[in-house]
Amino acid sequence: MSHKTSLDEIRFGASVARKMGQDNVGEPARHAVQNQTLTSRDIETLTMLEFAAQDSLQKYYAAMRQMETRLETLDQELKLRQNRNPIHHIESRMKSVPSIFEKLGRYGKEPTLDSMERYIMDIAGLRVIVSYVQDAYDILDYLQKQGDLEVVTIKDYIASPKENGYRSLHFIVKLPVFFLEGRQDIPVEIQIRTIAMDFWASLEHDLKYKRVHAVDGVDVGPELKECSEIIEGVERRMQLLANGL
Ligand code: GTP
Ligand code: MG
Repeated sequence: MSHKTSLDEIRFGASVARKMGQDNVGEPARHAVQNQTLTSRDIETLTMLEFAAQDSLQKYYAAMRQMETRLETLDQELKLRQNRNPIHHIESRMKSVPSIFEKLGRYGKEPTLDSMERYIMDIAGLRVIVSYVQDAYDILDYLQKQGDLEVVTIKDYIASPKENGYRSLHFIVKLPVFFLEGRQDIPVEIQIRTIAMDFWASLEHDLKYKRVHAVDGVDVGPELKECSEIIEGVERRMQLLANGL
């Protein structure tokens, strides 16, 4: 006997999985629909949702790629003029549809594509890894001088680290992208951090993900914060060396 699974049931399965702290909500959702029949309305809804999301997300993808090219151009020019590449490497990522809607829920906003475009500024994200702390500020400066870009909501976690020791320079750049229906200014979240800050953030994320609270009876929170402060001190010394002092 085939049981009909509605989208509501799948959604319920996914939300239970999320509450249980499972990051991979795809697996329970797939499990829920295995050997089940979707109604033709379900299929219609899925098709429409996928089409609408694709249509919107491809704009962010285009903006992200254009922004990455701009940063590479900047790096190449600085290489020619100053004989050094401030950018070590760039990572890019698109936020997944479930986490976009999870964030809208957290902000208490309607789960619509319209509010997604209005309130979610980090659908497209670039992480720029640089050598020295000064490079992060220089890149922000160069971008602020590019007339067609608008830099908004700068969060300087280098000047003011987060309580746990997290350091990075975050901001949103709105850049013009030309589509069939004309120009649109699309936001891209940029996080600039040094290799050392990236090292700290990657390990902190890893520990958080593994839900490690204590190692050999030592609370990892204060330990991580102290590591961050040590890294900050080392970076200050390296910056002085770079400045030729
Ligand atoms: P989100 O809902 O996470 O986007 O928060 P937000 O919009 O208030 O932005 P915020 O600038 O605080 O942080 C955004 C991003 O920075 C996160 O998605 C992470 O990539 C990174 N980040 C922020 N805080 C931390 C942290 O404590 N540890 C690590 N490893 N990364 C962090
Ligand atoms: Mg974010």
